[in-house]
Amino acid sequence: MEIPIFKESVEPIYQQLAQHFRLLIESGRMAPGDRLPPTRDLAQQLGVARISVVNAYAQLQAEGLIAAHPGRGTFVTGGRSSTGTTSAAWPPLGALNMSMREIIRLARQPGVIAFSGGSPPDEFLPVEALRHAINTVLDRDGASAVTYEESEGYSPLRVGVTEYVSSLGIQCHADDVLITGGAQQALDLVVQTLLGAGDRMITSSPTYLGMLDIAHVHRVIPVGVPLDSQGMRMDALEEAVREHQPGLIYIAPTHHNPTGTVLPLHRRRQLLMIARRYGVPILEDAVYHELSYRETPPPPLKALDEDGIVLHASGFSKILLPGTRIGYLIADGMMRERLVRVKYAADVCTPGLNQRAMHVYLASGALVGHLNRVRSELRTRCAAAQTAAKRYLPTGSEWTEPTGGLYLWIRLPDNGPTAAELYVTAIQHGVAYAIGTLFHTDGGGSRHIRINFASQTPARIEEGFRRLGQAWRTWQENYQPSVHRAPIL
Ligand SMILES: Cc1ncc(COP(=O)(O)O)c(C=O)c1O
Repeated sequence: MEIPIFKESVEPIYQQLAQHFRLLIESGRMAPGDRLPPTRDLAQQLGVARISVVNAYAQLQAEGLIAAHPGRGTFVTGGRSSTGTTSAAWPPLGALNMSMREIIRLARQPGVIAFSGGSPPDEFLPVEALRHAINTVLDRDGASAVTYEESEGYSPLRVGVTEYVSSLGIQCHADDVLITGGAQQALDLVVQTLLGAGDRMITSSPTYLGMLDIAHVHRVIPVGVPLDSQGMRMDALEEAVREHQPGLIYIAPTHHNPTGTVLPLHRRRQLLMIARRYGVPILEDAVYHELSYRETPPPPLKALDEDGIVLHASGFSKILLPGTRIGYLIADGMMRERLVRVKYAADVCTPGLNQRAMHVYLASGALVGHLNRVRSELRTRCAAAQTAAKRYLPTGSEWTEPTGGLYLWIRLPDNGPTAAELYVTAIQHGVAYAIGTLFHTDGGGSRHIRINFASQTPARIEEGFRRLGQAWRTWQENYQPSVHRAPIL
């Protein structure tokens, strides 16, 4: 059997090796008492430094999976995987020691088709228009463009945002708009302002993993509410609100990340009723609202909000330019002052040059045409992903049919690896995805993967799915528990 080693990988060789043996042991293909090859022989055979093999063995030894017997060799113990079972015995993410940042790092290797990120396609980013906008601002405003801006945001941009969101059905005043460092900061400011350590926050499960990070950092406890094909279940929500008395309900009602679901109008109204009845504010995350490429979605919650109970977070990352970090939060009433104070403490202000350039771009009217082009291309790429999924994913896989947004949410069949188990093999085959457990509040989603089809051309989408199918087969061939164990080398 070959040991796949990816020498160009940023993942150290010793970790790749350790991972290979770990999978063999966990899957039962190597059993207690089996001997590992001598480090010198293995290093020679693989053409790697001996120290890499030594380090890999040291790591496995530290994990209790193998033991060295001087003079006799290194053997698999009956340790952690004494049941010798399949994937169920494999601890999902912790054991792989993989965070989202690690996943992104692995996915950045040359040649890897990265379905793992959250960006819109690079080729859609209107770089020329941005250059023009920045030059216009610098010529017009000089030093004012690069000094401190007001914490609330550049005033003409706040007006520009009110005009823009009125096209989505939201009526608000420029005073209600706070410009933030991406939508991410808008979410963070609300959590910091409304919740303290030990407080509970409702979210769907699965949910946007950046929100789970925010909760984690502020020691807020996320309470996961299940979804169905129409988004968050309102019966389960009401039950959770009663049981947990949360300080906030966080929800992404339109083209939810990662499932792509859209909350229908009647559920939006129910949600507002529940929030009102129990006096819990709603944090609406609307970053994908404008990326519908089939039917028009229902209006944002903020457009239906008659009680000022909804805080609306969104921005220009997914529809325009993620790197300029321009987001906004629409909040009325007493909350506003507190939010601005937290914003000031966080970063004083969002960079004025970027805000002013965004204002020039919005005022140019170019966004409408840009969005039409993006939606049309997303429709094409989504269709390419659906076709490729059908062609290359293993039998028994299931996936969503999104009407907007950037992602396909796929469930792998039960008779093979979990998403985490498959990940390193997938990278070795040149394809990366986001692992389902990361999006869950309770460790669920082990067989789910999220594919960002939007960031790849249709040809690369097809190739990426082909590699994914191949990775699955390789895993099955190499790691499937078998009664007749083949020699490992
Ligand atoms: C649901 C959701 N909310 C918020 C964000 C953060 O967006 P931004 O880049 O504007 O901070 C993302 C980015 O992936 C997202 O998917």
